[in-house]
Amino acid sequence: VTGSPVDPQSVKGFLSSEEGAALTDLARACAPLGPVVEIGSYVGRSTLYLAAGAREAGGVVIAVDHHRGSEEHQPGEAWHDPELVDPETGRVNTLPAFLETLERAGARDVVQPVVARSPDAARAFAGEAGLVFIDGGHALRTALADWRAWGPKVAPAGVLAIHDVFPDARDGGRPPHEIWLRAKASGLFDPVGGAGSLMWLRRVG
Ligand SMILES: C[S@@+](CC[C@H](N)C(=O)[O-])C[C@H]1O[C@@H](n2cnc3c(N)ncnc32)[C@H](O)[C@@H]1O
Repeated sequence: VTGSPVDPQSVKGFLSSEEGAALTDLARACAPLGPVVEIGSYVGRSTLYLAAGAREAGGVVIAVDHHRGSEEHQPGEAWHDPELVDPETGRVNTLPAFLETLERAGARDVVQPVVARSPDAARAFAGEAGLVFIDGGHALRTALADWRAWGPKVAPAGVLAIHDVFPDARDGGRPPHEIWLRAKASGLFDPVGGAGSLMWLRRVG
């Protein structure tokens, strides 16, 4: 990633380099329309890709995560990582590792972390976003709440990007695909692109 001393692929996370490059391009193109908003930062891999594009356009990234991990990150679940457990509380806490990623990458000036549940952060966000990237909880209830809270916040001509959209159920869980379908059917968005399991739609004017 241009200008970053940290290769985002060296950061724990779930995004391919192809998907990351697409996020950088989207952030660069959309940042002039309003802030880039990320739902689900985890340890910061996708955040660094977004920050690179936003920086080039003179914009900012608002990185929303409660940092408690999603359902699949909890102890005993498929994507649990014991290194991300706070030894004092025994709970998942990705905030220290996330802040360390930003510090190492020199991205603190571009990225504004918001430690909150996504719908609460949306209520506190008054303006319009140039790009909203949804990669939060993958339970249906959580994904629907992200779409309902953030879909209307995308600026005209801005972009809504969703990660882990698998049209074929055999490839992965359905909720991100479900909210992509809802965005497409809403009349507010046109599907315009994809890279790997990242799919994006443009807000109609
Ligand atoms: C799949 S991970 C994000 C991965 C990251 N985008 C990357 O590229 O590596 C999902 C993240 O969403 C966060 N999350 C889940 N539900 C959330 C919610 N309702 N509000 C805020 N954050 C949430 C979790 O804490 C977790 O860090």
